[in-house]
Amino acid sequence: MAESMKGLHRSHRCTEVTAAEIGKEVTLMGWVQKNRNKGGLVFLDLRDRSGIIQVIFEESSVNPEVFEKAGKLRSEFVVAVVGKVEARSGATNDNLKTGAIEVVATDLRILSESETPPFPIEENSKTKDDLRLKYRYLDLRRPDLQRNMMMRSQVATLTRQFLAEEGFLEIETPMLIKSTPEGARDYIVPSRVHPGSFYALPQSPQLFKQLLMCSGYDRYFQLAKCFRDEDLRADRQPEFTQIDMELSFVDVEDVLEVNERLLQRLFKEVLNVDVELPIQRMTWQEAMDRYGSDKPDLRFGMELKDVSEVVKDSEFVVFKGALENGGSVRGINAEGQGAMPRKKIDALVDFAKTYGAKGLAYIALQEDGSIKSSFAKFMTEEEMAGLIKAMDGKPGDLLLFAADKNKVVWDVLGALRLEIARQLDLLDKNVFKFLWVTEFPQFEWSEEQGRFLAMHHPFTMPMEEDLHLLETDLGAVRAKAYDIVLNGTEIGGGSVRIHQDDIQELMLNKLGFTKEQAYDQFGFLLNAFKYGVPPHAGLAYGLDRLVMIMAHCDSIRDVIAFPKVKDASDLMTNAPAPVDEAQLEELKINIEATEEVEE
Ligand code: AMO
Ligand code: AMP
Repeated sequence: MAESMKGLHRSHRCTEVTAAEIGKEVTLMGWVQKNRNKGGLVFLDLRDRSGIIQVIFEESSVNPEVFEKAGKLRSEFVVAVVGKVEARSGATNDNLKTGAIEVVATDLRILSESETPPFPIEENSKTKDDLRLKYRYLDLRRPDLQRNMMMRSQVATLTRQFLAEEGFLEIETPMLIKSTPEGARDYIVPSRVHPGSFYALPQSPQLFKQLLMCSGYDRYFQLAKCFRDEDLRADRQPEFTQIDMELSFVDVEDVLEVNERLLQRLFKEVLNVDVELPIQRMTWQEAMDRYGSDKPDLRFGMELKDVSEVVKDSEFVVFKGALENGGSVRGINAEGQGAMPRKKIDALVDFAKTYGAKGLAYIALQEDGSIKSSFAKFMTEEEMAGLIKAMDGKPGDLLLFAADKNKVVWDVLGALRLEIARQLDLLDKNVFKFLWVTEFPQFEWSEEQGRFLAMHHPFTMPMEEDLHLLETDLGAVRAKAYDIVLNGTEIGGGSVRIHQDDIQELMLNKLGFTKEQAYDQFGFLLNAFKYGVPPHAGLAYGLDRLVMIMAHCDSIRDVIAFPKVKDASDLMTNAPAPVDEAQLEELKINIEATEEVEE
């Protein structure tokens, strides 16, 4: 039977009670974590979002009705307890914040009862994800998720405070907008008033924040919900949150500077971690050459080395072919892994193939000075010695080489480097390595579409010194675009925008837009730019990704209250779901009978 809380006021959260309250009366409310009956004594672990405190009901001193009720408590009942704080009578519990005290109860109310939950509410649940997500409201009671949610809230609050202090205005932009493809697929929303027409949900507030700059709000920010219909991964959700900002009358340096201080503040206040400024910077080209990735994890070395020059005269068809095709041969040195069993090396080869490698050549340097290698038979002794030297190979090292087009070689070795680091446990979650990656290419060649696409977006400003290349070599044009990378994850990105109409026109032209198409898609922006547009630049963080790393999680699902699963559905509400015939009729939408698409 559920009782009312009438007349009671919660005085503290469970772990807000400290030794300073000894001798005082407190009123606590929360969930029953555990209840043990030890003849004459009932021990109750009471839990709320702050943590757990021990409550004792003594048969000898408490009202018999209360004692009987205490004996009936079960996990996840919601209760109110009134009692006196005392020093622990038994052994203290160093694992609990409240381990040196207990509350000796004088009154108890059962505010609501609970069925046996489908899984225990405890730290580090071993419960399967699907079940946890179906009962997300119970999952969210677990201490680790509660800590994550509290950390997320703290990050959001500190961000707002910091940006407000720095003169940024928080302005909301619409969620129902015009579809302007930004790279990912849009989620679209049908219009009832205009049958056959659709809104799109924003992939980011990009165009609106640029318009706000045109309107004179020279520093804007927003914690913005963004929607992208793309394949999900551990660090991708179809709806996610950006810390989005835009600034007027600034260049790259200004954006990086204020953001470095924001990151420094967040890490100090939330984790008591000192971020040393300035944050390291690296051009995109250097990141690719040294790490095979535009978001390198700097917590460990194992850098890529280009050995094309060393093997340029080799007759080994794999190397020769790659070089003849304009590609390269590069390697990494997994130091100390020369004794890796053949089976494990083969597994690395298979792993490399999933990243597009046709194969992986290796040299395992044995402690006795001999070598084991997959391709020594195709090479001269001098060539092998040259390779080993170029890779700084020492006895006991494992050298791995990929030969292909640059992009494939980077992808393969970049991924392999991370995989080996994972296997060797080199990725310490308590270490935070920040990096700005700058000077991204302006354009990216799409094999699929047979044309150049904007790597960031069509409004990104090329580097002034590369403007002349717009007519001759699009692939070589570098952009005033930057990403902020943390431990191998891109936590944010942005750019300086084009504010000069001749450059914007040229850019859209190079991206294959006719003037008409450009105005059809972004007319409102191009028109706005005719009425006085300030130079502007901005950046957006993936808030979920940032908090994921701060909270030592492996998936952004663990820092999102109600996340979706891989097929973009919500296991708790069962969204997406069919709608009523009447709703469809109103929208003038006809659904063709389709078979459920199997993934
Ligand atoms: P971008 O597309 O790089 O830039 O997005 C900015 C940041 O958002 C995060 N992010 C995601 N997080 C979770 N799930 C996703 N599906 C997802 N997609 C992106 C990443 C990324 O770095 N308007 C520009 C920013 C700008 O130029 O100012 C933009 O959206 O952490
Ligand atoms: P093969 O001549 O195909 O037997 O290849 C000889 C060795 O070269 C094997 O160890 C292959 O795994 C390796 N290999 C094949 N293709 C590549 C490649 N693209 N890059 C690096 N090594 C490769």
